[in-house]
Amino acid sequence: MERVGALAAIGATPVVQLGQLVGSESAQVWVKLEAANPTGSYKDRMALAMIEAAEADGRLSPGQPVVEYTGGSTGSSLAFVCAVKGYPLRIVSSDAFAVEKIRTMQAFGAQVELIESPEGITPQLIPRMMARAREIAAETGAFATDQFNNTDMVDGYRRLGAELIEQLPGEPAIAAFTGYVGTAGCFLGVTQALAQKVPGLHRVAVEPAESAVLSGGAPGVHHIEGGGIGSRPPQLHETDYDEVIAVPEAEAFAMAREAARREGVFSGPSTGANLVAAIAVARRLGPGRRVVTVQVDSGLKYLSGHLYG
Ligand SMILES: Cc1ncc(COP(=O)(O)O)c(C=O)c1O
Repeated sequence: MERVGALAAIGATPVVQLGQLVGSESAQVWVKLEAANPTGSYKDRMALAMIEAAEADGRLSPGQPVVEYTGGSTGSSLAFVCAVKGYPLRIVSSDAFAVEKIRTMQAFGAQVELIESPEGITPQLIPRMMARAREIAAETGAFATDQFNNTDMVDGYRRLGAELIEQLPGEPAIAAFTGYVGTAGCFLGVTQALAQKVPGLHRVAVEPAESAVLSGGAPGVHHIEGGGIGSRPPQLHETDYDEVIAVPEAEAFAMAREAARREGVFSGPSTGANLVAAIAVARRLGPGRRVVTVQVDSGLKYLSGHLYG
């Protein structure tokens, strides 16, 4: 499909190899720089996929309002896509998430409603946001993108996986992918696309150690935005991954800072978690392999918080 205006700038992001954080005793680690997307996040891919699929099958009509619950990244991307395509957007978010994301949604013209959660990302927060978005959809007739249950959003990430295959041909071969799980859209789309060309791909789901539900632990409070929602995301099944790595939030934050200073990869905490897991897997695999992960979004989204404060 031909992309209108700024939507054409989504995707085709660079991929770079870590040079400092990974030694010669380790497999290579390659990072897809998704901050290069228009709102600085890989979520631009899924926002476009969700809206275009709904347009194509008539669930979304010209000018109809759209509603979503979001930590802010999906909201920023949806706000961007809806601005270009002329859909009014209602967002339910929370003060538990970066203020930069809230302001980005507003900058693109979205109407944002915040649910207070001063403790951080609690297991109750996402269900409360979902319930409020459902109310708004019922009251206004808005199209609910409902990211956790939306299967179109996974399609948005298959292209990311396809780009990796094109960008990293030959040797050393891709052996593993690590991805922090929120909706699991990125993890599923990328691993499904990669697995078609990479036999035996080792698929590593990443979650916060403080809310390590996929690892069999209890839900808990943490500060790695974008995932660790306190329950298994509905589209992720146990057969979709080979391993789960639970990363303590302090390590994810420290890695985000380290990656900025030593690699010039400037990102948020979920990218920090992705890198912690990728580097651990790369050390275990040893030389002659490639481990791939994603820079989820830009560090610019986190400048007012304590990550870089
Ligand atoms: C900052 C951040 N990191 C990671 C993720 C996880 O991505 P996914 O929902 O594709 O699992 C999200 C999703 O909201 C996010 O906002």
